[in-house]
Amino acid sequence: MKLKWGITLIVIALIILVGTYVYDLNRSNDMPTQSEFPTQSGIQVEESTNSSLPIPELLIDSNPDENISDYYLSAQNGISNFFEGKQTATLGYNGNYLGPVIKVSNGEEVRMHVDNELDAPTSVHWHGLVVPGSADGGPHQLIPTQSTWEPSFTIDQPASTLWFHPHVIGSTATQVYYGLAGMIIVEDENSKSLNLPDDYGINDIPLIIQDRSFNQEGDFVYVDNMMDGAFGEYILVNGAITPNLEVDQVKMRFRVLNGANARNFNLRLEDNNEFHQIASDGGLLESPINMESLFVTPGERAEIIIDFSDYSKGDVVRLLNDNELVMTFIVGEEVEDTTEMPDTLAVIEKMDESLATNVKTIVLDGMGHMVSLNGKQFDMNRIDDNVALGDIEIWEISTRGAMMMGSAGHPFHIHGTQFQVLSRNGNQPYSNEQGWKDTVYVRANETVRIIVKFEKEGLFMYHCHILEHEEAGMMGQLEVSE
Ligand code: C2O
Ligand code: CU
Ligand code: CU
Repeated sequence: MKLKWGITLIVIALIILVGTYVYDLNRSNDMPTQSEFPTQSGIQVEESTNSSLPIPELLIDSNPDENISDYYLSAQNGISNFFEGKQTATLGYNGNYLGPVIKVSNGEEVRMHVDNELDAPTSVHWHGLVVPGSADGGPHQLIPTQSTWEPSFTIDQPASTLWFHPHVIGSTATQVYYGLAGMIIVEDENSKSLNLPDDYGINDIPLIIQDRSFNQEGDFVYVDNMMDGAFGEYILVNGAITPNLEVDQVKMRFRVLNGANARNFNLRLEDNNEFHQIASDGGLLESPINMESLFVTPGERAEIIIDFSDYSKGDVVRLLNDNELVMTFIVGEEVEDTTEMPDTLAVIEKMDESLATNVKTIVLDGMGHMVSLNGKQFDMNRIDDNVALGDIEIWEISTRGAMMMGSAGHPFHIHGTQFQVLSRNGNQPYSNEQGWKDTVYVRANETVRIIVKFEKEGLFMYHCHILEHEEAGMMGQLEVSE
């Protein structure tokens, strides 16, 4: 009898594995370009174009004291118009979809006031912010419906582009999909002194890139069946489908956030012109990096500068994900550009490997819903790891499993810290990841070594940032204590 059950289970598992494999093959073979899209929904892309890029509002600090800020956020239900004449039920912070940008400075004392006006519990996690566990906004800082969470902390890190999103067990992925996410900009003395483009909304622009699916009525369709996470057919930037942005003939700084649940983006300009990356997740790089394409995985950020001074009025410059349209820049007037892109952006002190007190192994295994971290599924009541405050550790993160299906990689993220990448399979990390990172992509059959310091006390999550993997248990928690 037992044997029979065993065999039945193995057969079921095989069917699921093969099914996923075939599904994945199909998907990668006919990755549609944007113009070929309307598959599931039947909505033509043309209906939704011509929208201009929404620029999220800067959240106003309601405290007149220069060194203390009070910020009010409210998670709420909304209605958005992604398609002409169609309404989509969405979620947003202080609005219908996504949220405002919160701009803070290193050393600033911040008090957050987060209202939950949703019908369900939520939390707000400050992704990339180096704050104590109690202010981190992970699954332990649940905000029940119709109540307020008020953490306060002091900004203690260099200029960078961070973000915030829910982190509730069981509904992180859907709450993000429906619209809960926003950007945080940290400034410091160095960044203010550099004369980089930093005029928010003018030459310093957030690009929150996501993918979403819709049905005929225009409602979101969250599909997380046997695929490796929830993928969408349409690309949204700041909540608009493949929008346009008019730019003067100057250097423009874009703060790119991969805000997708599961999809990687490989961004390039249609004409393959070069641009520069100036910052990774946790801050400015040592110097700008010349590139033709930028690969960003879920949760990662990159600040880039595109110089439009070589273009002429009326030029149309498309930003693509491989061959799929992301957004369009329409080049405008020739104006004076007083900004600069200096050769030296920041000093990044390399963390000393010999100071590490521990070498730890993280194994990311599986795909779809069958995932684990170090052989286990997340358990809110289990602390997987303990670290002494101030300790430096080396983590060796590798992927495994799903061998027969050539499993993809995992964007691995740690809360409450910024780390440095030491190597990939023994080789030098990519040039654009030699600065501060909080999320690092670990490809199939790859081992990525990082060095990390824990400088804040409390309970922190570490996990794969494919939100469906996180939900399925590819997450652990560590406690940092004296
Ligand atoms: Cu973007 Cu656990 O977070
Ligand atoms: Cu995080
Ligand atoms: Cu994963």
